[in-house]
Amino acid sequence: MNLLEFQNVSFSYAENQILRDVSLSIRRGQLVAIMGGSGSGKTTLLKLIGGQLQAQQGAVWLDGQNVGQLNEHDLYQMRRKLGMLFQFGALFTDLSVFDNVAFPLRERTQLPESMIKDLVLMKLEAVGLRGAAQQMPHELSGGMARRVALARAIALDPAVMLYDEPFTGLDPISLATVGKLIRELNDALGTASIVVTHDVAESLAIVDYVYFLADGCVVAEGTPAEVKASTHPFVQQFIHARPDGPLPFHKPAVPYAEQLGLTC
Ligand SMILES: Nc1ncnc2c1ncn2[C@@H]1O[C@H](COP(=O)(O)OP(=O)(O)OP(=O)(O)O)[C@@H](O)[C@H]1O
Ligand SMILES: [Mg+2]
Repeated sequence: MNLLEFQNVSFSYAENQILRDVSLSIRRGQLVAIMGGSGSGKTTLLKLIGGQLQAQQGAVWLDGQNVGQLNEHDLYQMRRKLGMLFQFGALFTDLSVFDNVAFPLRERTQLPESMIKDLVLMKLEAVGLRGAAQQMPHELSGGMARRVALARAIALDPAVMLYDEPFTGLDPISLATVGKLIRELNDALGTASIVVTHDVAESLAIVDYVYFLADGCVVAEGTPAEVKASTHPFVQQFIHARPDGPLPFHKPAVPYAEQLGLTC
């Protein structure tokens, strides 16, 4: 059964259409990448899953519930099933590593402090940072901070994990570590995970399936092996990081000469 499904979803910010007739599905235990250029609608897609935005057409199903139809109370309950590592997601700078990970447990559950302690240490152990529990965020490297954010995101044992650009700004070793962790946590927790990313090599190494978004549409999809063998121009441009191809460098705009007031 699909844990997450987009059925012909279209979404616009006012007049600006961002997603067009997007359909995708993710099963339990599956790790899926969504790739696409800047502004192609990746973060918007994640916000539709979290219910921060509602699709104007189509439906987003999470664990059998239509996210866009939920009332405030049910939406709050539904979000407990979601773990999110936000784009540029930061730790609370005035809280220790331990308290950062404990935050969602204290906020969202009535668990006694002794149990919270056990859970926090278990999550920190899973990301290899139990030894850093008492450190403050400014004492961590970027890669360590990302791993703590990961431990915080899985604190409530989510059914679905959403990662928005989890590799940004990491050195190659931290990047590989975080990638491996995302895969291991997905498998160990039996979650369904979506990784939104520009990092082609890292994601192809860890995911089960890839969707390519361009101009708000799914233009190609497949397993890493299929994607690597694909001759599809979008896929080729992405995989080989070519500046020229179907994905335009320029956002559509009025003619440059017109904007500069030039007449010729
Ligand atoms: N709150 C908003 N109001 C209006 N337009 C928005 C809003 N948020 C995003 N957009 C527009 O929606 C489009 C898609 O944005 P989105 O953040 O989903 O892109 P993205 O694929 O995540 O890009 P990036 O890779 O740079 O993070 C962009 O053109 C952006 O300008
Ligand atoms: Mg984004």
